[in-house]
Amino acid sequence: MFDPVSDIPDLSGRVFLVTGGTSGIGKETVLALAAHNPAQIYFIGRNTASAEGILSKLKASFPSLTSKRLDAFIGNAGIMALASALTKDGYELQFGTNHVGHAALLRLLVPTMLRTGEKEPAGSVRILLLSSQGWALHPKGGILFDNLKTNCSDIGVPLGSNWTCYGQSKLANLLYATELARQYPTVTTVSIHPGVVNTNLVNGLGFWNRALIRVSQFGKGLLTPAHGAHNTLWAATVESSKIKSGTYVEPIGNSGAKLDEDAMSRELAKKLWDWTEAELKTLKA
Ligand SMILES: NC(=O)c1ccc[n+]([C@@H]2O[C@H](COP(=O)([O-])OP(=O)(O)OC[C@H]3O[C@@H](n4cnc5c(N)ncnc54)[C@H](OP(=O)(O)O)[C@@H]3O)[C@@H](O)[C@H]2O)c1
Repeated sequence: MFDPVSDIPDLSGRVFLVTGGTSGIGKETVLALAAHNPAQIYFIGRNTASAEGILSKLKASFPSLTSKRLDAFIGNAGIMALASALTKDGYELQFGTNHVGHAALLRLLVPTMLRTGEKEPAGSVRILLLSSQGWALHPKGGILFDNLKTNCSDIGVPLGSNWTCYGQSKLANLLYATELARQYPTVTTVSIHPGVVNTNLVNGLGFWNRALIRVSQFGKGLLTPAHGAHNTLWAATVESSKIKSGTYVEPIGNSGAKLDEDAMSRELAKKLWDWTEAELKTLKA
């Protein structure tokens, strides 16, 4: 059980950044954090009308938009099972959006987070990457590095390429969190499964994919977006002794989920790290 009203502590002085804060789980994360007195919350999304609506609701919580500290990075933005395509930079669309985009932003923000951590109790600075139970849909071998700059049209079994590539991108979120934890031991880094949540991610799918998700939750139903934010909020704000860096966390605060060989592979996590480092050097600012 987790109740954001009573379980989130006072967040005075703390600064948060949430990607994909304009709808679904990210929006609810922003709204719940704002109710606990943080110094600032940055949120990122593409939908200006939605962002303006949230800002006007929370005007008093956003006194300025500059900060010398960052206490929590919540990499929440994501897409799922969309039609095959490439990003502008030439990555498979889901891998580019769900993994490369967050890695690029983190490269800019980690120095600020490390500096913030120097003045805070150990483990209080956090990186959260929204993964998904869907990581298990990844292709054989985990991540097909030679395919990451193709449009993912020919690797899909058994549900189809777009689900396989979603799984690959969400496995990348999980593995990247484990490697970030090794690279930056003073920052608590975890990947998160939020539950199966009734958001645009699900409702924007075609009929058969929506039906697949609803059937998979038969008897339980989908979580509301507000409930879908609980695991994120737990990981962002729980006291440091209760959260273990490098873990994959299912609702609420459960880091004991069964992982497969690829999801536990240090070698694959390091290979992803090295691949990402090399790619980020080629990207324009
Ligand atoms: N819903 C679930 O059942 C479920 C289950 C497991 C994991 N997750 C994960 O939870 C996270 C949040 O998903 P959600 O369910 O809340 O979905 P959502 O309602 O569709 O929200 C996704 C957010 O990501 C943003 N976004 C997408 N592509 C972007 C891009 N290229 N650049 C910047 N922002 C972008 C969207 O911005 P716009 O408003 O501009 O579209 C939106 O704010 C995702 O990472 C997803 O994989 C969700």
